[in-house]
Amino acid sequence: MAMREADPSKAYLLLEAGPIVLVATANKGRSNVMTMGFHMVMQHAPPLIGCIIGPWDHSFEALKATKECVIAIPTVDLAETVVDIGNCSGERQDKFETFGLTKADAKAVGAPLITECLANIECRVADDSQVESYNLWILEAVAIWVDDDRKERRTLHHNGDGTFTVDGSKLDLRERMPLWKDFQVEL
Ligand SMILES: Cc1cc2nc3c(=O)[nH]c(=O)nc-3n(C[C@H](O)[C@H](O)[C@H](O)COP(=O)(O)O)c2cc1C
Repeated sequence: MAMREADPSKAYLLLEAGPIVLVATANKGRSNVMTMGFHMVMQHAPPLIGCIIGPWDHSFEALKATKECVIAIPTVDLAETVVDIGNCSGERQDKFETFGLTKADAKAVGAPLITECLANIECRVADDSQVESYNLWILEAVAIWVDDDRKERRTLHHNGDGTFTVDGSKLDLRERMPLWKDFQVEL
């Protein structure tokens, strides 16, 4: 069987990183929200998450100034809103108002939680040494909130080209993972 060679710069189309998320920030009394697809879990304890947030985002300045944000996990019912949030800047508009999102106070950070989302992860910057070279922020999760009553729980996965895959069926292979039993826990 022949393998077709493809452009290596398109590796991101094959390595989708996880659910598309919203990143909420608050700076000088103004909150903002952006969409983020490039992120990865890096470590269990302390829990570290790598995120690409660049100077093209207005949110970059808020993150730089406050060293805090909230990563909110939207579900498929918010698909169009998530895309629209990632196609406009919060520099001159309040995106929470524009998109009808509800803020709630976080416990440990100044950025707001987004109540329409399935879960919210309060984060503090743990390491910004790779920001200048790669726009890579290493964040530590300091608190998590989950909406257990929410019926719609399917997350969205960006294929890198404006199309999205919606969570489908779940394969349970836990019995084949004796080496990793400690990680078979509920949120
Ligand atoms: C599907 C999607 C995924 C995105 N992923 C990222 C990302 O991983 N990192 C990033 O810096 N910007 C990403 N963006 C772009 C930002 O969301 C966009 O620049 C947004 O307008 C920034 O908002 P702000 O200027 O109010 O901060 C993405 C946009 C979309 C639509």
